[in-house]
Amino acid sequence: MALPTSSVITLHVNGEPRTLPVDHRTTLLDALRERLDLTGTKKGCDQGQCGACTVLVDGRRTVACLQLAVATEGRQVTTIEGVADGDRLHPVQQAFLDLDGYQCGYCTPGQICSAIGVLAEHAAGWPSAATADVRPSAGPPPLTADEIRERMSGNLCRCAAYPSIVEAVASAAQPAPAAGKGTGPEAKEPAA
Ligand code: FES
Ligand code: FES
Repeated sequence: MALPTSSVITLHVNGEPRTLPVDHRTTLLDALRERLDLTGTKKGCDQGQCGACTVLVDGRRTVACLQLAVATEGRQVTTIEGVADGDRLHPVQQAFLDLDGYQCGYCTPGQICSAIGVLAEHAAGWPSAATADVRPSAGPPPLTADEIRERMSGNLCRCAAYPSIVEAVASAAQPAPAAGKGTGPEAKEPAA
C-alpha cells in the first residue's frame, strides 16, 4: 500500500490559523513564501547556512529552510510580517531603521527575527559561546558587542552591515522589548 505523500495541515502564522495542503517534502520556508505569500522571509542558501530565512517557532529562532512544514503543524510561527504591533514597529525593527542596520535589506528580516530571539534568550539567562561565566547563578551576562556578534553569528550579511547590526541589537536591548505574538522563548534550553 502506497503511503500518502501530502497532507492538509494548519499552520498558526502571526496569530492566524492557515490551512493548506502540502507535499510532505515542503519546507516551512517554501510554505510561507510560495503558498501563503509571506515573502518577507527570504531564501538565501536554502541549506541552513546563511540565516536569511530565520523565523520564530514557538518563540525560538528557526531556519525555515531546514524545517518541514508538516513538522510545524500546531506550533506558533512568527515571521517578519508579524513582529510589529499594528503600526508600531517592534523595538528591534525601529532600532535597525534608526541605526542603519542594513544596506540592501535582503538579510534584514532574518536578522531582525534572530535578534528578537537573541534578546529573549539573553533575558532568560541563556549563555553563549562568548559567555565567560556560564554558571546559572551568574545570571545573564552583559550584552556586550562580543556577546551580540556570537549570538547573531548564524545570520550572514553580504553587505557587511555588521557594525550597525550590532549597534541596533544593543540599542533594542535597552529597554528589553515586549514579547509580541509568540516572540518569547517558551523552552528553557538554547537552540542547538
Ligand atoms: S536560506 Fe535558510 S539558512 Fe540560508
Ligand atoms: S543588508 Fe544586504 S545582505 Fe545584509
